[in-house]
Amino acid sequence: MEDRELYRQAKAVLNRAYAPYSGFRVGAALLTKEGRVFTGVNVENSSYGATICAERVAVGKAISDGFREFEAIAVASSEGKAWPCGICRQFLYEFNTNLRVITGIDAEHLECCTLKELLACGFRLSAE
Ligand code: THU
Repeated sequence: MEDRELYRQAKAVLNRAYAPYSGFRVGAALLTKEGRVFTGVNVENSSYGATICAERVAVGKAISDGFREFEAIAVASSEGKAWPCGICRQFLYEFNTNLRVITGIDAEHLECCTLKELLACGFRLSAE
């Protein structure tokens, strides 16, 4: 699947975000090795620290449906470009250190890099 299409799917869901506190809506689209796409949005909470990011929602949906080999994730936000936060980088690192991460101001202006580039020396319990 093209990066542009994956990004469009991230953008398509961001209005479903539950973000009454920050007003910052995020959509993520996670592509599996099999070509399946799992989307996610951020879900905020009155207890702010309980908030979960769009990327982790997408991963949780994929894992709970039996998919854990990921090729790429696209992230879109109501404010344009949005790279995954530090917690999400570590969360994604568990499954594929070479994951391609895509974001941009719109589908015609995308930026892409690997998770390894975004999270140098990420933590793993087992040595690789
Ligand atoms: N957020 C995400 O959904 N993904 C990120 O990678 C960064 C931040 C959300 C969390 C919160 O609901 C809002 O953006 C503002 O921080």
